[in-house]
Amino acid sequence: MVLGFPTALLAAFSALVVSPAAVRAADLESALAGQANLTTFRGLVKNHTDIFANLAKGVTIAAPNDNAFMKLGNWNTYNESTVAATLKYHILKQIIDMPSIIKGDSVWASTSLTDENFKVTGGQRLILTKQPGGEVVFTSGFATRGTVLTEDLPFDNGLVQVIDSVMRVPETLESTARSAYTDLTAFVGALYATGLMSEVAQQKDVTIFAPRNAAFQQLAGAFADMDDETLKRILRYHIVPGQLSHVWELKNSSSLASADKGNKVSITRHTNFIYVNSAEVIQADILISNGLVHMIDNVLSPDKAGARPDVTLTTAQSPVFTPVGATATGTGEPTPFASDLPCTASCPAARPTGRLNGAGTGEGDVERPSSSNAGVALPRCTGLAGAGVGIGLAVGAVMVGL
Ligand SMILES: *[C@@H]1O[C@H](CO)[C@@H](O)[C@H](O)[C@H]1NC(C)=O
Ligand SMILES: *[C@@H]1O[C@H](CO)[C@@H](O)[C@H](O)[C@H]1NC(C)=O
Ligand SMILES: *[C@@H]1O[C@H](CO)[C@@H](O)[C@H](O)[C@H]1NC(C)=O
Ligand SMILES: *[C@@H]1O[C@H](CO)[C@@H](O)[C@H](O)[C@H]1NC(C)=O
Repeated sequence: MVLGFPTALLAAFSALVVSPAAVRAADLESALAGQANLTTFRGLVKNHTDIFANLAKGVTIAAPNDNAFMKLGNWNTYNESTVAATLKYHILKQIIDMPSIIKGDSVWASTSLTDENFKVTGGQRLILTKQPGGEVVFTSGFATRGTVLTEDLPFDNGLVQVIDSVMRVPETLESTARSAYTDLTAFVGALYATGLMSEVAQQKDVTIFAPRNAAFQQLAGAFADMDDETLKRILRYHIVPGQLSHVWELKNSSSLASADKGNKVSITRHTNFIYVNSAEVIQADILISNGLVHMIDNVLSPDKAGARPDVTLTTAQSPVFTPVGATATGTGEPTPFASDLPCTASCPAARPTGRLNGAGTGEGDVERPSSSNAGVALPRCTGLAGAGVGIGLAVGAVMVGL
């Protein structure tokens, strides 16, 4: 105490006189320097004093090790603004020590990535989940996950957690569907086809229940002659604006107000299963820049808000729409809307046809893939710079916290 006080005072004094940045950054630097294999991250901290020099008190820093940057493969192609956003995404705005995280009760942590482009109140989030073996996993955009290798290293402003992957900043629904969750391309195509894409992209703190492609494909007949207004209502019913609802916030018997004039969707939980109306959540918590997506196995109907699952079924729940005509089984028909996802680059051929014309988007000339194979909803567009590297395509494996 006697020695400590003047030392602290001196530190505070020199901090004021010299530069608070120098003192604090040195403290983070010494915490990092004590660890092997953090060379790249240390270099980034040194080079980005604008981000790290004036850290608030009470933060947690996720520090990817050298192998994490190497695994990423394309770090050197990140431009300055992407690097800055990525670094801010690694700073959690509270102190979270790993032993405090309880199995089955994940932490939904706000980061200092609060730029306007990211429409999540309090900053973009990371999910921290304790695994059965006790290790903690961080989940970021594109289902990129990193395991904590060295936990709770103290430094002046909080704690450092060394992780084995670089966290990916969540991107838009469209970009996420295109490069990591191609099973959502029919849903995104349908948003384009009805001109709803920009409405959804503008929403803040959104929770989206997005049916997978097979759900649309199964109903190809039902969608064939549907008018745009009906389709818009159906799509809006899958979207809950202004209410980020992480999987563990989806409580049994609760309901959420959808963008279809507040028409509610209802949650049912049964053992490890989660249903929205009668559709099953098959992949939860896909982080996007304005909220999150839960993938579901059936299309919801705003006119069947009372639909509930038969939890005794060991097979899939039935769709609430009646499959009609020759497509009753769904097989052999192209997946509706998959071809409405506009091409970004490298399109085999421009083919301006389909619903986009006259759908009120003014985008009738948008290039689109030249074909959509029956039952396969992968648009043939390529040209996504950097996509696919370091992305965990762990579809079906990210049901965390259950
Ligand atoms: C650092 O990386 C090297 C090479 O990958 C590895 O052999 C070593 O065990 C690592 N050290 C620590 C402390 O993680
Ligand atoms: C830090 O900046 C220097 C000088 O511009 C550069 O050579 C180095 O690669 C940078 N380090 C990192 C990790 O970005
Ligand atoms: C940086 O890269 C991102 C992603 O590739 C891109 O969207 C953005 O426009 C680029 N920014 C600048 C300033 O070049
Ligand atoms: C969930 O809610 C339903 C309907 O209110 C109820 O019948 C069921 O018992 C509840 N399940 C659990 C696990 O609480």
